[in-house]
Amino acid sequence: MKEYNLIQEGDVNFSETRKNWYRTMDSVAISEWLERDASSFIHQSLSTPCLDVLESCEGIYITDVSGKKYMDFHGNNLHQVGHRNPFVIEKVKQQLDILPFSPRRYTNKPAIELAEKLSSLLPAGLNRVLFAPGGTSAIGMALKLARIVTGKYKVVSLWDSFHGASMDAISVGGEQQFKQGLGPLMPGVEHINQSESYRNPFSEDSNDLHYVEQLENIIEENADIGAFIIETIRNTDVQIPSKAYWKSVREICCKHNVLLILDEIPIAFGRTGKMFAFEHFDIEPDIICLGKGLGAGIIPIAAIVARDSYNVAGDISLGHYTHEKNPLGSVAALAMLEFIESNHLLEKVKKDELFVKEKLTALQEKYSLIGDVRGIGLLWGIELVKDRDTKERAVSEAEQVMYECLKNGLSFKVSQGNVIQLCPPLIIEREQLENAFNILEIAIHSIGYPLLS
Ligand SMILES: Cc1ncc(COP(=O)(O)O)c(C=O)c1O
Repeated sequence: MKEYNLIQEGDVNFSETRKNWYRTMDSVAISEWLERDASSFIHQSLSTPCLDVLESCEGIYITDVSGKKYMDFHGNNLHQVGHRNPFVIEKVKQQLDILPFSPRRYTNKPAIELAEKLSSLLPAGLNRVLFAPGGTSAIGMALKLARIVTGKYKVVSLWDSFHGASMDAISVGGEQQFKQGLGPLMPGVEHINQSESYRNPFSEDSNDLHYVEQLENIIEENADIGAFIIETIRNTDVQIPSKAYWKSVREICCKHNVLLILDEIPIAFGRTGKMFAFEHFDIEPDIICLGKGLGAGIIPIAAIVARDSYNVAGDISLGHYTHEKNPLGSVAALAMLEFIESNHLLEKVKKDELFVKEKLTALQEKYSLIGDVRGIGLLWGIELVKDRDTKERAVSEAEQVMYECLKNGLSFKVSQGNVIQLCPPLIIEREQLENAFNILEIAIHSIGYPLLS
């Protein structure tokens, strides 16, 4: 297989290394279940054929049908309060006995309370909420609302972005893997080109203001642009823009009456050490998209929260989802937020950030394979390179590190072919973090690249 094919949003599920991984599993039960999965589901990248078959989960762990436990440093970014959080489970169980479903033309107490709670956590004026069953649907609602509010139908996004897998979301998203072979997409999308050669275009020292210039040029050349949609911090390969970048973006959007839609679906609720990532940059969105951890990893629920003045679509259906004001999801979300607040998780994550930074910096000083380490809160990216000067991606090495870690009970995702993304539950204990870094170091060491110290 060409190495090019290994460069994609996540690890590939048809590589030689994946085949070798299956050979290391000596459980008949796992093989049988994997075969049944492969014969029943439509195969697609990043899913079937699958890595392993899960039986249970708890806290930071997922456990397979043979009893093998993995520390889950991926968790699809929805496990902020840990898997099967007992506080949340209890609240959901209680709600199951009262009102598990609410038909769309009715409302219910948990949904109203959740809408009020989200508004209370966001800056004043961001207080109009819509719920949806998943993040992609929230993105769709945000795009529709922006068209209605501004009367302009075009949108700008980043070339390499991901905002979900539906037709409208892949139209604003840039990743080829999600759109190849699918024919015409939604018109009216302009993309900001990010440098292909440099994987982390956003950072204090990489002059990310260059991308602000591109944004303004695009807006000035296209009179119909009504929105700029972007992740506040790119989750998959962890790209953290500078404060100056965000300040300029905000100013440009205000100047041109372009709504700033922040996609915080994978990174809100404490992941970065703040309830919402935009709080790091002293800016406010016009619409924020939330999801994943909103349902505490138990019930699928997503949301948009928009400015009060955008409540202008009373005669149009923006969402119309069957599970719109989902009482179970609302209860899970309220419990998740209560858990974060009463356990002071934001403060904990800030302390963990310092610890992780120290650990990863030490690894970078030791192993030439590590070209860059970047992160915030409990969201970290480790970029593996064949050569620090050329920054050539160490793609097959990243795959090998991942499978070595999986063998030793640490699960994470590789993004863009060479970026190891670490995203543990926020409840993780210090000793568990230490264990994870030991497993990671053993795996990096096993690749055999020159040691620096
Ligand atoms: C940045 C971002 N936006 C949107 C989505 C779509 O969310 P969902 O999978 O819940 O539809 C994702 C999912 O991975 C995401 O990472």
